Amino acid sequence: MTLLSIENLSITFEGAPAPAVTSVSIEVEPGARVGIIGESGSGKSVTAMSVLRLNDESIMVYGDASRVMFDGKDLLRADDRALREIRGRRISMIFQDPMSVLNPVFTVGAQIVDVLRAHSSTTRKAARSAVVRSLAEVGIRDPDRVFDQYPHELSGGMRQRVMIAMAIASRPRLLIADEATSALDVTVQAAVLGTLDRLAVERDMAVLMITHDMGVVARFCDVVYVMYRGDVVEHGPVSQILLAPQHEYTRRLLTAVPRLRG
Ligand SMILES: Nc1ncnc2c1ncn2[C@@H]1O[C@H](COP(=O)(O)OP(=O)(O)OP(=O)(O)O)[C@@H](O)[C@H]1O
Ligand SMILES: [Mg+2]
Repeated sequence: MTLLSIENLSITFEGAPAPAVTSVSIEVEPGARVGIIGESGSGKSVTAMSVLRLNDESIMVYGDASRVMFDGKDLLRADDRALREIRGRRISMIFQDPMSVLNPVFTVGAQIVDVLRAHSSTTRKAARSAVVRSLAEVGIRDPDRVFDQYPHELSGGMRQRVMIAMAIASRPRLLIADEATSALDVTVQAAVLGTLDRLAVERDMAVLMITHDMGVVARFCDVVYVMYRGDVVEHGPVSQILLAPQHEYTRRLLTAVPRLRG
């Protein structure tokens, strides 16, 4: 069964002359790596945020025919209680800026422990060892020391790993990554993508990867959706899109990354 099915999604902001997103449909199978690529303003983030209902619904509306089906439930019509069950537990999201998620006044360990304990009843002590294990799992070499550090003591790449550890602590079925590696330099980005890749396989976790970087798509995704001005203009297996792009905009995206051709 399809894990996530975004159907006919349209999003209109108050006072905007046209919808920001028009009838977008995206499917994510269990364990799949699905990319959404597109230029700035094409609607990638508002589409991703609709899955967790994180758009500010006081200033926008979803279309009447829009559905976001997850595990047989329409999240656009789910109540707060159902959404709380899903957010951070069945579906987690990571962003470009870890500092928007990490609290500067608590150690990273304490923050991940809180996430763990919000979702399961473990003792503090058991939680500490579980967190140390997940810090190691995301490729942090000295997890015991990092556990007791504050976010500002860590490098950007390390913070990104901590955020991933936090996002996967509850063993979600789906991880949404919105430009999560865009701010990192190339080598750190490759290492973080490698870690996500391994985790996805080990945990049979699906990843919805939002990026404007075709290199990230080529390296990480099986399937990609190309967005342009609020629409999906084409989608398919990454190899097919890379080798035989149908849409003019996709071709332009590809010429921007010459080393991927052929
Ligand atoms: N809070 C908002 N109020 C009004 N319009 C908004 C708001 N957020 C997004 N939009 C509109 O929705 C469109 C899509 O925005 P979105 O953030 O999804 O783009 P994106 O593809 O994620 O771009 P980027 O690559 O820069 O992150 C934008 O062009 C903007 O006009
Ligand atoms: Mg965005």
